[in-house]
Amino acid sequence: MAPSSTNRGRRRVVLLPLPYQGHINPMLRLAAALHSRGLAVTILHPETRAPDRRKLPADYRLVTIPDNIPPELAASEDIASFVFALNKNCAAPFRDYLAGALREEEEGEDGRLAFVVADVDWFAPLSVARELGVAALALMTTSAARFLVYLAYPSLCRQGYLPVQESNLNTTVEELPPFVFVVRDLDCVKDMAGHLAYADLLAHIVAGVRQSSGLIINTFEDIEGMEIERICREITLPVFAVGPLHMMTLSSSVDSSLLTEDRSCLDWLDTQRSNSVLYVSFGSLVGIDTDEFLEMAWGLADSQHPFLWVVRPGLVRGSESSTLPGELQEKMGNKGRIVSWAPQQEVLRHPSVAAFLTHCGWNSTTESISEGVPMICRPLFGDQMGTARYVCDVWKVGVRVEVENQLKRGEVQTAITRLMDGKEGEMVRERMRDLRHVVLKCTSEGGTSDVALQRLVDSNV
Ligand code: UDX
Repeated sequence: MAPSSTNRGRRRVVLLPLPYQGHINPMLRLAAALHSRGLAVTILHPETRAPDRRKLPADYRLVTIPDNIPPELAASEDIASFVFALNKNCAAPFRDYLAGALREEEEGEDGRLAFVVADVDWFAPLSVARELGVAALALMTTSAARFLVYLAYPSLCRQGYLPVQESNLNTTVEELPPFVFVVRDLDCVKDMAGHLAYADLLAHIVAGVRQSSGLIINTFEDIEGMEIERICREITLPVFAVGPLHMMTLSSSVDSSLLTEDRSCLDWLDTQRSNSVLYVSFGSLVGIDTDEFLEMAWGLADSQHPFLWVVRPGLVRGSESSTLPGELQEKMGNKGRIVSWAPQQEVLRHPSVAAFLTHCGWNSTTESISEGVPMICRPLFGDQMGTARYVCDVWKVGVRVEVENQLKRGEVQTAITRLMDGKEGEMVRERMRDLRHVVLKCTSEGGTSDVALQRLVDSNV
């Protein structure tokens, strides 16, 4: 393909996002940040959930490679199997693509290939690139703390912390910063088969990173300085803490939503009092059962605060719709607004929004911090429990929904009251204002993330 004139002579980066919303967003934000600093961008994507070409900037290239993954597996909650299939099936098509790109470069058709960036979970391309003599970096889309859990996983298993058991959920994990982790913050895979599959996946991820040319992390020094330093000591590779990536570029320059945003919720927010609305969302991946959904709905309705709730298709397991019983709808009245997908960053920025009831996905957490919105945490799996620990007990910019067993409406209501109405809430809000200033500093010109990003652009990894 002939290079577009705007890209002529530019060094090119090839970015490989893992095809899940929570991973596509940070990778495309990294793409935009590198592009704005003078690099030409190719997005290499598997067929599954490929981004819409029309939403990408005109001078990006989008290369779609076959993945041969059955749609049922792509849509299932068995992420480990999906990730292994992706790595296996896409290695050869990626090799063909990269060999072709190198030939074009030799023939002078294209700018020099600077480096490849693959999601840490899409590890196979890292070794393919290395074999072909191309520098390849891994992107950790979530926190540095989570990467430390990945590194420590085998030792945590040897020491008996993992697999998680009912009896050790509250045992302190002495080995890992922030030194307030208990076992339930590490993981939630309780069955042995699931645990072994996950451990195997993490071993592949860590091996991939160790053989790469460097690690990019979607975090920033002032929030995870100790964790980043520890990673640098353990992997002895260049590490670039360049996040939060949504702050490193204009948000209007990236539209990576796989679902259609219901923008009418912004008009509804305009009709609400300033600083009054609770925004509720559990991200793009987790599923909850009907009982949890209804208890959550009752808890929200009982709290008496207006709320905007994202109930995306698939959120409630086994149910296509978000229809609530009549009695509950009556109780909610005009106070509650449900949408299937929201323009989240704009919602969090809206002056009516007072707090975010969240599953603590890393993107949602950093987006909330950058808008100074305190959080109510209901983590459900993977990195979310550890992130909730940081939010509530390390940075202290949120409160947790304290769940005894199965979620109950009273537990939801108590957490909302603690944050929205109490003295505790005032202190949390104050700390969140401070943390927002910190993130603004890190991501502005000369801040640590800005400097790290430039180091990445200039590097000859
Ligand atoms: C997944 C994991 O669940 C999460 O724990 C991990 O950190 C990243 O991968 P997801 O569950 O989707 O991600 O959560 P999150 O990381 O918060 O990402 C969701 C993204 O979707 C955010 O960027 C958010 O702004 C966006 N979003 C969410 C919308 O644009 N609209 C919505 O209505 C909801």
